[in-house]
Order: sequence, then C-alpha cells, then structure tokens
Amino acid sequence: MVTKIIIGCDHAGLNLKKTLINFMESKGIDVDDAGTYTKDSCDYPQIAHEVAQKIAAGEYPKGILVCGTGIGMSIAANKIKGIRAAVVSDTCSAKMSRLHNDANILCLGERIVGEELAKDITEIWLNTDFLGERHARRVNMIEQL
Ligand code: RB5
Repeated sequence: MVTKIIIGCDHAGLNLKKTLINFMESKGIDVDDAGTYTKDSCDYPQIAHEVAQKIAAGEYPKGILVCGTGIGMSIAANKIKGIRAAVVSDTCSAKMSRLHNDANILCLGERIVGEELAKDITEIWLNTDFLGERHARRVNMIEQL
C-alpha cells in the first residue's frame, strides 16, 4: 500500500474527493489535497496539470483525480510525459490498470460511480502492484510515443 498520495478535483468531483480523502486517511495514508476546495466552477485541466506534474517529478508515487466523469481529468493528465492516467469505473479495470498498465493516476467520475464503489476501486488500485516483464516493455513503448 502506498503511504503518500496527492488528490485533486474540480467542482463536479468535490464530494467524492472528500469521501476518498477520509477513506484513505482512515487507512493511514498521507493525502495531500491539490484542490479545488469549493463548489465554485473551475477548470479541471489546471488541477490535472498540477497533480500530474508533481507525480511526473517524483514528488508523489501516485495520484487521484476526480471530475464529473473522470474523462477530462484523464485526457489532461495524460498530456504530461510519464503520466499514465486511467479512467476507472469498475473494480476489474482498477486492478488491470495497475497490473498491466502501471497507471500512476486514477481518474474517477463523481457522476458515474457511487461512493462505495469508488472506495472499493481506490483500495484495489492502491494495493495492486505492476506485473512488469512483458507489460514493462509495452509501457516503455508508450513512453517512446
Ligand atoms: C464539469 O461540468 C465537467 O465537464 C467535468 O467535471 C468533467 O466531467 C470533464 O470531463
């Protein structure tokens, strides 16, 4: 289990972000919150950029981004070299995004997944290690694109 993580959201992901912060802190994880902190409308690419850059720079091993669907956050975060952001809305994809893709950002949609499912997804995602080997070759190929 990772012990330190960064999380961010836009206005549409604020409630789920708060739920996940409480959930992860209850598991002993040190969670840094990159905002947003209110329901005022904001632009998700700014938050995605800040979180993705910190992960790409090695300040955090992994991060979570929450918006309405998870899609905008993932598209924005994946623009940053070294980021593998996966939009996940089921537990199988949560596991596979770690095992095969070494995803370093989990993107969730507050308008898509319920709180309990989001907690299950997060727990699985945080606890699953990358398999490496042939999957490492493929991830390295992605880095070269
Ligand atoms: C905001 O309305 C919404 O577009 C955003 O949260 C996200 O779902 C974008 O992908």
